[in-house]
Amino acid sequence: MAQVLPRAWQAGNRRVPGGRVMNGQLTYLGIESSCDDTAAAIVRHQRGLPGRILASVVEGQATLHAPFGGVVPEIAARAHAERLDHCVEQALAQAGLALGDLDGIAVTAGPGLIGGVMSGVMLARGLGAATGLPVVGVNHLAGHALTPRLTDGLPFPYLMLLVSGGHCQFLIVAGPAQFHRLGGTIDDAPGEAFDKVAKLLGLPQPGGPAVEAAARMGDAQRFALPRPLLDRPGCDLSFSGLKTAVLRARDALLAEKGGMTEQDRADLCAGFQQAVADVFAEKTRRAIAIYQQENPPAPAFAIAGGVAANQAIRARLETVCAADGLRFLAPPLRLCTDNAAMIAWAGMERVLAQVVTPDDLIPRPRWPLDAEQGGMLGSGKKGAKA
Ligand code: KG4
Ligand code: ZN
Repeated sequence: MAQVLPRAWQAGNRRVPGGRVMNGQLTYLGIESSCDDTAAAIVRHQRGLPGRILASVVEGQATLHAPFGGVVPEIAARAHAERLDHCVEQALAQAGLALGDLDGIAVTAGPGLIGGVMSGVMLARGLGAATGLPVVGVNHLAGHALTPRLTDGLPFPYLMLLVSGGHCQFLIVAGPAQFHRLGGTIDDAPGEAFDKVAKLLGLPQPGGPAVEAAARMGDAQRFALPRPLLDRPGCDLSFSGLKTAVLRARDALLAEKGGMTEQDRADLCAGFQQAVADVFAEKTRRAIAIYQQENPPAPAFAIAGGVAANQAIRARLETVCAADGLRFLAPPLRLCTDNAAMIAWAGMERVLAQVVTPDDLIPRPRWPLDAEQGGMLGSGKKGAKA
């Protein structure tokens, strides 16, 4: 089996895993297959600087799952197993590197759909055994959470809202392996809610971009939709009641008029999106208040995940941050959604912080970032929530 732990990492010597001597620089292959994107990337880490993405390949599986109206775990696992090595080859070719030029391999070991996670971990272990490169297991959520460091070299500690089709949580990110969860969804993830609302209204999938486009023409005030959990203290969120309220409003329209006009759809989308933005804004204010209690020297807030692509939500949170004097960061969309560059980066951050353990490589469907807080409730459409 491949060597899992760095053999020696000594700050003075710059001796890296695998015994190679470097100049404070690491180059890792990242592998991601926890959901419905098959991805490989090569990233270079130079101490104190943002990362350099030498190659990033992402193959989506949307067309494979489209006939079933959701991600089918068996189909996802098979497609990952078939396409992963091709993605790795492509990433190496793009970077102009061979496996022998790398310092290590980082692979998503959870949370996610277990078949896909196992495909990635087995490939990484196989490559490690064949090359002698160290293999580091990475938590997929840590990949998202550390992305502002990959893109901007953001210093710890920062506040993060991770919002995707499978996840929703506020985190204080204090180190490569130090995550403190302030709250998260108790039911649906927001991207899931966008997708379901789109489905209810006959809009295409993925629902987020379709709902956002329709909302631009809509009147957000027309339908009175709830702002779930605002009446309760804390940073937990809920989106399932909001989605049901959209369903009821739609059914009322259908009963009254026998159908829906484009304007009805647009108004419902605008109302839904505004309700989500209102909830995020208020919960973000609360999360900022908790984060500020620790007097961070350079207070910053970052969003990540597919829903971070929503311009209305971004603009709203940027305003909240400006009012509280926080720097606001939203990574480019290709790094908000699932990718392997964030996995390579998170793996190198773990190696450099010397927090790699052999257990990291155990494939896990659930794997909360904040072990003290345990997992969130519910189970997303794209697998178990962390
Ligand atoms: O991070 P991601 O690519 O995959 C995971 O869920 O891990 O996020 C996909 C989710 C989908 O539910 C999609 O509808 C949502 O992000 N999304 C958006 C927008 N673009 C994508 N939601 C709201 N507004 C958008 N513009
Ligand atoms: Zn993700």
